[in-house]
Amino acid sequence: MISKTLVATFLFACIAYSSTLPADAPSKPSKKPYTPEFLSKCKRSDPKLNECIIKLINELRPQLAKGIPRLQVPRLEPLTIPKLLINRNLENLKIKANAENVTIWGCSGFVINSLNVDPDKLKLKMALTLPKLYGEFKADFDGKVLNFPIKGKGKFSGNMTNTKCNVEGDGTLVKQKEGEFLQLKTIKIKATPGEMSNIKYKSTSNSRQDDALIQTARTFFKENRKQLERMVTPIAEETAVEIVSQIVNNILKTVPFEDILKQTA
Ligand SMILES: *[C@@H]1O[C@H](CO)[C@@H](O)[C@H](O)[C@H]1NC(C)=O
Ligand SMILES: *[C@@H]1O[C@H](CO)[C@@H](O)[C@H](O)[C@H]1NC(C)=O
Repeated sequence: MISKTLVATFLFACIAYSSTLPADAPSKPSKKPYTPEFLSKCKRSDPKLNECIIKLINELRPQLAKGIPRLQVPRLEPLTIPKLLINRNLENLKIKANAENVTIWGCSGFVINSLNVDPDKLKLKMALTLPKLYGEFKADFDGKVLNFPIKGKGKFSGNMTNTKCNVEGDGTLVKQKEGEFLQLKTIKIKATPGEMSNIKYKSTSNSRQDDALIQTARTFFKENRKQLERMVTPIAEETAVEIVSQIVNNILKTVPFEDILKQTA
């Protein structure tokens, strides 16, 4: 689970391209809809709408890195998830993990490889690459991976290069007093974890027994890397879906749909 917990965390966090998810205090959508200027830069009727949006996102990159509080856009650099609970009870993977202060640098360096927005059908398809990520988090965990017991508490860190994500989203319009708002109906995320390096685990457990387990597990996990990756990636994807949905829906609640991608100039 050592390196794989990292993969999982990197993925859900970063694909998610999110941050500071208030786990115990759900963020309130701002009361008054607020429409920043940049939202009217790309017109729905533009035959090159996708190119326009990619260009706009690239221009907004410095703001995305810092976050846009009025639009509920969380800070990307670094991206922080205060708390993350993982609980899986599958045949090959029984794990309870409690991760804290998951902090990831490099998410704002995302590259949009392709984008396909259909504003009439409210559909979006996007392919992203995250060239370079570095992450740190604290976690305690207990479980069995491929029948191998692991238990411990410590700090993880590591790098990951060239992570690829495909995102597909489907929206629906919701009527409110202030107008119609877009909300996500479904979102699918497929991730291909990148190359990992520089992976570190520093135990903060007082149990020698736990530490001994982790030492043995390291070797075991190295030998079963591919299998582990196949096991953990879907969990990372599911977690990403949860995080992304919450964040995207919060953002969409701040701006009426008619102000996103205006029909005409
Ligand atoms: C969270 O982790 C980051 C990076 O490791 C660190 O700078 C920050 O102080 C930590 N915050 C808390 C609340 O532990
Ligand atoms: C890991 O990422 C950090 C921060 O981007 C970087 O300084 C360091 O060189 C990277 N290490 C490796 C082994 O890629």
